[in-house]
Parts: sequence; structure tokens; C-alpha cells
Amino acid sequence: MAIDKRKNDHIYLAASEISQVGTSWLEEVFLIHNALPEIDLSDVDFSTRFLGVKVNAPFGIGAMTGGTELAGKINAELAKAAEEFGIPIYVGSQRIALMKPEVRWTFEVVKQNAPSVPKVANLGAPQLAELSEEKLAEWVAQAVDMIDAYAVAIHLNPAQEAVQPEGEPRFRGVLEKIKIVKKAAGKPLIVKEVGNGISKEVAARLTGLADAVDVGGFGGTSFVAIEGARASGLHQRAAETFKTWGIPTAASICEVKSAYTGFVIASGGIRGGLDGARAIALGANFFTMSQPFLKAVLEGRLREEIETVATEVKVAMFLTGSRTVQDLASAPRVYGPRLRNWIEQRRLHC
Ligand SMILES: Cc1cc2nc3c(=O)[nH]c(=O)nc-3n(C[C@H](O)[C@H](O)[C@H](O)COP(=O)(O)O)c2cc1C
Repeated sequence: MAIDKRKNDHIYLAASEISQVGTSWLEEVFLIHNALPEIDLSDVDFSTRFLGVKVNAPFGIGAMTGGTELAGKINAELAKAAEEFGIPIYVGSQRIALMKPEVRWTFEVVKQNAPSVPKVANLGAPQLAELSEEKLAEWVAQAVDMIDAYAVAIHLNPAQEAVQPEGEPRFRGVLEKIKIVKKAAGKPLIVKEVGNGISKEVAARLTGLADAVDVGGFGGTSFVAIEGARASGLHQRAAETFKTWGIPTAASICEVKSAYTGFVIASGGIRGGLDGARAIALGANFFTMSQPFLKAVLEGRLREEIETVATEVKVAMFLTGSRTVQDLASAPRVYGPRLRNWIEQRRLHC
């Protein structure tokens, strides 16, 4: 019951303004207007590849939920939309279903409703730390099977675990365990943050191990703020202190691009297609959004939300004269002072 309540609390708190902290700094990426794009808007082709698979758009639905009745309904809605638009979909942490087989259906609805798009399984670093090698390999195989996953994501969430009342801030040996996951999965491996970002030092350690890094930067949904809203006493106060902790998404993309040559996924505080286009111009290969799609499901307007994001990406491509996603990646741009300062001090290539 406690874990059910926590999952549903996360959904409702994430959908509320309490969860939204700071900005992604993507507003510091100014794409230069091209008054002579020499293409029609209808020429824009934003289909791309997600870890090698062709998809209809350069964005997907980020990792969120599963494990309760409400989460199952949300996952089914998200999956139907992912299938309709031909975009990838991640699920939330599958630990709950590995411990309680009766809630597997809340994840299985994703493969049932989105049979043809890439689906991404999800486990957390703290579980990696606690499980033996054999058990971990078994869990990974089950998680993949549960949603017919194309890829496996491991989330790193030390800030959340540190302030969560029932948190498990155990990260010793995680890198070695990620190697076991990679072997057991036999699928592309994504390592992601959940809203505090990935630095170049961490990205360098993931080179040759992760097929993709999903930056999960600061500036959108904050699990520190969400845990703070659920906590009292010292946890609540610590959450208040650390709720602005993290690497803003725009800076994290530059951090990761400077140390890692694999596939880079932008996420964290991306709040529309223009933000997504800016993330791609900065160096990301793909982007995901979570909270805006969750809110849209709860408000019964998911398709409209996805269509809006798609239209905005295409307009941004048209206005920079970018016919393809590759063209967008080299669109001229100017950085605002905070991002420029970060790039200089950290000696990033961006
Ligand atoms: C309700 C909710 C639950 C989440 N649960 C998970 C999870 O289980 N595993 C994970 O990797 N990320 C999880 N996330 C984090 C998202 O994948 C993403 O990194 C984060 O929300 C930042 O993106 P956003 O600002 O677009 O929401 C969750 C996000 C939300 C909104």
C-alpha cells in the first residue's frame, strides 16, 4: 500500500506546479531567424533515428509511471498516442512490477497499445546496488519482456533518494552493475538522470558503456521538490535547500557533448517544440518530455499536446532553413550570458 500511495502521490504532485522548479536555460539558446529559408514549411522532414530505429519525429514520451491502477491507465493512453504518432515511449521504474507480479499489467499495456514503436524499459540505480548479479540479470530480462523493450534505461537519481523520506541513497558499485545490465539486456542501454543533469565527468565514465545518455537536466520537474512536498521535518527542510540543485538542461547537453560521443537525448524542462529544437541545435540527437504529457493525459488533451510540439519543431526548422534534423543540428545560434559563462568556465565544446 505504501508504495502504491507513493506512486500516485508522485503523479498528482508532478502534475501540479509544486513540481516545476527553475528553467532549463534553453531560453539562452537563440536560434537565428532565416528570412530566406528557401524551403516550404511542407518540405520540412523531421523523421529521424532513435538509437538506430526510424521514428516519425525527433522526440518521445519520457519515463514516468506504472504500478498502480491510475498509472496503468496513464500508460495505456501514453502508449496509444506514441503508436499513433510513431514516436518512442519510455515507462517508469519497473521495480514495483518485479516485486508484485499482479501489477505487471500496468506496464504490459504499453506493448499492447504501442506494438510498433521503440519502447524503453526502466530500472533505478539503487536497485542495481542492492541486487546480486544473478538476480539483476533476471530482473533486466523480465523488465524487457514485460514491455517488449527495444532499449533499457537506468535512472540515476541520487538527489531524490537523498531527500526522500523512504529513500535509498545507495550508489556504491553502480557503474559495475550497469555493465551487468548491459550484458544481460542485450539491448541498447540508456543512462539517464531524472532532473539534476549529467556532467562531462559522469558522461566520460559512461563512454563505451552506455549507448545513449539522457541528460535529465534541471529546470523542469524536480523530484527533490516532489519529495519535499511529501515529507516533513528534516527531509522537508533538506528538500527545500536542494530543490535548486543541478545542472540546467542546456548546460548539461553541452557537458555531455563535450565528453561523450554516443547518442545524446535531451530532457528536463523541455516545454514545447521550440525548446526541443534548441536542444537539438545545441547538440542533442533527440528529446523527450515527461510532465507536459502527463498533465495532458490527465486533462484529456494528449493528442493536441503532441501535435503542438510537432508543429513547433517544424516551424523552428522552417525558420532556420533546416529541411532535416541534421540541418537543424548545425543551425546558427547565439548563447545568452549564463550559458556562455558556463561553457567558458567548464571549457566545453558547444
Ligand atoms: C510522474 C513522474 C514519474 C517519474 N518516474 C520516473 C521513473 O520511474 N524513472 C525515471 O527514469 N524517470 C522518472 N521520471 C523523470 C522523467 O523521466 C524526467 O527525467 C523528468 O520528469 C524531467 O523531465 P520533465 O521536466 O519533462 O518532466 C518521472 C517523471 C514524472 C513526471
